[in-house]
Amino acid sequence: MRKKIAAGNWKMHLSLTEAQKLVSEIVNMYQDEYRGKAEVIFGVPFPYLHPIHHLIKDKNNIHLSAQNMHQATSGAYTGETSAPMLLDTGASHVILGHSERRQYFGEDEALLAAKTDQALAHELTVIFCIGESLEERESGHMLAVVKKQLSGGCFHLSAENFSKLIIAYEPVWAIGTGKTASPAQAQEVHAYIRQLIAERYDAQIAAGCSILYGGSVKPENAQELFSQKDIDGGLVGGASLKSRDFVDIIKAL
Ligand code: PGA
Repeated sequence: MRKKIAAGNWKMHLSLTEAQKLVSEIVNMYQDEYRGKAEVIFGVPFPYLHPIHHLIKDKNNIHLSAQNMHQATSGAYTGETSAPMLLDTGASHVILGHSERRQYFGEDEALLAAKTDQALAHELTVIFCIGESLEERESGHMLAVVKKQLSGGCFHLSAENFSKLIIAYEPVWAIGTGKTASPAQAQEVHAYIRQLIAERYDAQIAAGCSILYGGSVKPENAQELFSQKDIDGGLVGGASLKSRDFVDIIKAL
């Protein structure tokens, strides 16, 4: 079902104490200041999942996400974390295919398709990230890249399973750079993603899909981005580490 969503992606930041303080502040401000129905998701490092779950477990519309997971249920994979382990911590979501995973850890479409299957098999909600690099945009390959990533990672799914995904469009050149895609640039790609989903599945599934924008989302640009027809919220990195900023982004929904 299409929803308004503000998802924070903390990446590899914060101490546990800082993380707990941040979540407590955000939850308090959210409850005091926000009357809307948007979902809030905290995408936190593995070791913080369980302690952060403790702080949000009885809060409406606030969820917990991992930033990665392994594609096997269990096994001799030193240092890895499985979907059942994520569920045990209280996580309900997992971010897959973030450009930093693709770029630094060599995650490709086949691997991401396997991870997506595994997450869905355990009823984790996947936030599936796609997006082009600056070079790909400037050489005119932007839409082809988005299509390849989306079809390679997700279009093998049944309609029922595809409907459980959240898609995040994050142009790589806008991540952590302070350069945001203009609302029109983001809308163009979001509309294209929705069109691809309609072509692969149907118009109803496309209309029901939540598609988030990510890449230097801040309180100053959130409202204009979120007012675009096909943008349903944000996947927020840097600004999700500041309680005031993240709550203002939620309120922009
Ligand atoms: P940013 O990160 O908001 O700091 O650009 C977004 C992301 O990587 O998800």
